[in-house]
Amino acid sequence: MFVRSATLVDFRSWERLSLELTPGATVLVGPNGHGKTNVLEALGYVATLSSHRVATDAPLVRTGAERALIRATVVNHDRELTVDLDIAGGRANRARLGTTPVRRPRDILGVLNTVLFAPEDLAMVRGEPTERRRYLDELIVARSPRMAAVRADYEKVLRQRSALLKTGGHTLRRGAGSEDGASAMATLEIWDSSLAAFGAEIVLHRLRAARDVGPHVSQSYRDIAPASRPAYVAYRSSLAESAPPEMFDLSRPEAPDDVDVLEAAFLQQLSVVRTREIERGTTLVGPHRDDLDLILGTDPAKGFASHGESWSFALALRLGAFALLRTEGSDPVLLLDDVFAELDRARRTALARVAATAEQVLVTAAVGEDVPAELDAVRVDVRAHEVTGPDGTPGRSSVATRQGFGDFSGSGDSLGSGDAVGEPVQTRRETEEDR
Ligand SMILES: Nc1ncnc2c1ncn2[C@@H]1O[C@H](COP(=O)(O)OP(=O)(O)O)[C@@H](O)[C@H]1O
Ligand SMILES: [Mg+2]
Repeated sequence: MFVRSATLVDFRSWERLSLELTPGATVLVGPNGHGKTNVLEALGYVATLSSHRVATDAPLVRTGAERALIRATVVNHDRELTVDLDIAGGRANRARLGTTPVRRPRDILGVLNTVLFAPEDLAMVRGEPTERRRYLDELIVARSPRMAAVRADYEKVLRQRSALLKTGGHTLRRGAGSEDGASAMATLEIWDSSLAAFGAEIVLHRLRAARDVGPHVSQSYRDIAPASRPAYVAYRSSLAESAPPEMFDLSRPEAPDDVDVLEAAFLQQLSVVRTREIERGTTLVGPHRDDLDLILGTDPAKGFASHGESWSFALALRLGAFALLRTEGSDPVLLLDDVFAELDRARRTALARVAATAEQVLVTAAVGEDVPAELDAVRVDVRAHEVTGPDGTPGRSSVATRQGFGDFSGSGDSLGSGDAVGEPVQTRRETEEDR
């Protein structure tokens, strides 16, 4: 698939940007802090409904604006679909597919798939398990968008169950002997069954994702860092305590690959930790406590990998996901944020070789020379300029310019012109003449 056009209104530093894009490679070039990553972030948001940089939506809305809009027209196997996202920065977001409003923003998931690699991804290797769970969950939603609803259901049950454990601990400890104790226990058991039902589905999808992406991650790592020790991934489940370990390694033929078996294991594990959960006042097992182990040779990457190895592992996780998704349908759009500057020559070339095969890849770079010539990219220059906010505060706004041509962003002169629609930016393949 590829994004044919993208429009941002009041998204981060962009008052308005209309970009016409082509398949193949496009490089956004400009000094740091001028709005390049903001463009990739917006497309990543359309694909995942979350930012790779912030956990809340408020920072996505341009300072002084009420809401941000992202529109993307995506071409997938000759079929064209336009998605509109209205980000209210705190209140509920709204979305449209074509001209039709959808019931929930998550109904647009699946229209655009992206694989975004950014410097923040180093946290997948060095950071907390939550970073790796997010990696897996993005993958399971990209493979089956309905998992977004299952995740939302799980989160809701988890919050309610944990709240009961926290506030009702005293009552729960009294147990079946007292009337209110018995009733609290009964409520807890209702939450248990929903938690296990939704949780088992998430664990199963993650196990399958880990099994399927694993070989691609190992291969990508070999390509990027041929001299380093081999890299592996393995899912580590908090349900594994009272279940045989092979249950959680779907690459083994005896592994059940069955949601009912996992649900039973979940319920079993909940009964094992019941007393502990009541003491601690929180839910101790389930996919929210699981992790994806990243292994280099025989050591965990976290704590053992050098900076270069950690960086390569993070990149291999993304390229592995890209390789897997493209075997299963349409090529996701590859978004590479500021990565080439971090890599040595050999790794740059290895990455450029993969990127050159993508149906579409959007790259950001502070200087164009960081991007290997193999990519044969259209170049867009991104600059910020000083503006004065509605309340007189100084700020910046970004503009994009096709290299060697005039300003084509519809921003700049039209600043403050409200909803005026700028002319779309026409980008095209760079010709010999342009170079
Ligand atoms: N909500 C916002 N409103 C206005 N400007 C913002 C907002 N969020 C970020 N910015 C600005 O965007 C710029 C950073 O953009 P970014 O895309 O990260 O730059 P880079 O070109 O280095 O990738 C900074 O100038 C920052 O002040
Ligand atoms: Mg950036």
